[in-house]
Amino acid sequence: MALQIENIEKSRISDVDFGNLKFGEIFTDHMFECDFENGAWQTPKIRPYQSLTFDPSAKVFHYGQAVFEGMKAYKDTNNDVWLFRPDQNQKRINISAERLDMPAFPKEYFLEGLNTLLKMDSEWVQKGDDFALYIRPFIIATEHCVSAATSNRYKFMIICSPVQSYFTGEVRVVFADEYSRAANGGVGFAKAAGNYAASFYPTRLASEQGYQQVLWTDAANHEFLEEAGTMNVFFRVNDTLLTAPTSDRILDGVTRKSVIQVAKDEGINVEVRNVRVSEIVEAARKGELLEMFGAGTAVVISPILGFSHQNETFELPKIENSYASIIKKRITDIQRNKAEDKFGWRVKVQ
Ligand SMILES: Cc1ncc(COP(=O)(O)O)c(C=O)c1O
Repeated sequence: MALQIENIEKSRISDVDFGNLKFGEIFTDHMFECDFENGAWQTPKIRPYQSLTFDPSAKVFHYGQAVFEGMKAYKDTNNDVWLFRPDQNQKRINISAERLDMPAFPKEYFLEGLNTLLKMDSEWVQKGDDFALYIRPFIIATEHCVSAATSNRYKFMIICSPVQSYFTGEVRVVFADEYSRAANGGVGFAKAAGNYAASFYPTRLASEQGYQQVLWTDAANHEFLEEAGTMNVFFRVNDTLLTAPTSDRILDGVTRKSVIQVAKDEGINVEVRNVRVSEIVEAARKGELLEMFGAGTAVVISPILGFSHQNETFELPKIENSYASIIKKRITDIQRNKAEDKFGWRVKVQ
């Protein structure tokens, strides 16, 4: 793959207080960039991280034709840098792009471009369980024209941000019964920027009541539990782990599919099926709802301590050896090259 590289003159890394990082505020020295023009992706470039200039009429500003990904790199004790299932993110950005009528980004550009970028900025991946490098690939519509029609120019980029382990604090959720995140035939399965914009207002209303996230339900009847802000969700009823099947309303999470595989490997009974609000409320009343947790790249696994449903509140029991903790350790040990990777998920940057 032809790749143009422009190196920074002087790294900014010595200015960074790695013990005090806020999620997604600081970016590494370089960025990867590729433009789609005249019906083709042009020669990709890596150049110093910097601001971009766009005409105010660029389509992304008006019609939200934008998709993105989120993934992480980790550094082990030998200073090797590892990615977790990058092929999944590479495929998913093109699934998202297709739904928003954007051109697919070539696989080798994505994977080789990312590998080169991470080699160049590897100092920014700090060692230790507390650190990771958050990677944000995205595609935006850049044609200068406000007609409401698909763009004929796009920009693909990868930017990277050093992060500390994302301590979410306590997470309690509201089961959605008014607003919806996604509808049948819509864009819920895509990582489309607009999905997130649409979730912020209901999430703010939830947070004003002391709940950090909305647990979205199906838009038709608010009858089935689907996913949370940036996490797929799992429910442990007695010794069975339940999660919703993916659909056109739900993002096919990389962590979700990894949790399902690891849980099965641990001998846990996993049921992938529609999960009714009523069955979870009933299980909570009977004391049979032992755990709820979210699964996503940012947090890996985030226990959910309680929920609210139609103004009734429920707290989950505190339990030892939770499925959440067992599964989280298995996955993070694979991600950080601390355990055997029997599934072949880890990819070395080299
Ligand atoms: C809506 C939504 N659901 C689920 C997830 C979890 O997906 P993954 O495990 O691939 O990060 C994310 C985060 O990417 C998300 O934004």
